[in-house]
Amino acid sequence: MKTVADYIKTIPDFPKPGILFRDVTSVLDDAEGFKLAIDELDKLLDGVDYDIIAGVESRGFLFGAPLAYNNDKPFALVRKKGKLPRETVEESYSLEYGTATIELHKDAIKPGDKVIIIDDLIATGGTVEAAAKLVERLGGEVVKMIFLIELTDLKGREYLKNYDVASVVQYEGE
Ligand code: PRP
Ligand code: MG
Repeated sequence: MKTVADYIKTIPDFPKPGILFRDVTSVLDDAEGFKLAIDELDKLLDGVDYDIIAGVESRGFLFGAPLAYNNDKPFALVRKKGKLPRETVEESYSLEYGTATIELHKDAIKPGDKVIIIDDLIATGGTVEAAAKLVERLGGEVVKMIFLIELTDLKGREYLKNYDVASVVQYEGE
C-alpha cells in the first residue's frame, strides 16, 4: 500500500544548488495521493478538541481547507501582508534573506478559541511561530501545529518546543 511519502517528489538543486526540494504539488497531482494526505493529516487530529483550523498562505491552504471541511470546522486564512480586506493583526518573521509579514483578520479568531495551525511544511519553524503569535494576540490558544512534511535537520520542532507539533512525513537533510 502506498504512503504519502510515495507521492512526494524530491527535486535536487531547487531553488538553488545543494537544496533537495520536497515538492507537495506532486501529492496534489494524484487524486489518491491528495486524499491520502488529507486522511493522514486528519489522523493527527484524532482526539484533539479544537474550534477552528488556521492555514498559512499559500501551501497551507491546500491542505487546511479540505481538512476543515472534512471536520465541519471553520477555516481561518493567515495571509501574506496586504491581501486581507478587513482589520488585521500582523506579524513579521525572518527569512533566509530579509523578512516577511503575515496577517490575520481580527475577527477570524475569538478569545478562547482552540486553534489548529496547519502548513504544508515545517523547516525552521519561523513561519508557523509568527502564525501562532497572531492567533495568541487575538486571544486564541494554539492546541496543535500540524504539517504534511517536516525537515528534521532544521530543528523546527525544537524551536517550537512550547507547542504540540506533529507531521506526517519526516525528512533528514534539506
Ligand atoms: C514555505 C513552506 C512553509 C515555510 C516553512 O513557504 O510552505 O510555509 O516555507 O519554512 P520555515 O519553517 O523555515 O518558516 P513559503 O514562504 O516558501 O511560501 P508559499 O507557501 O507561499 O510557497
Ligand atoms: Mg508556505
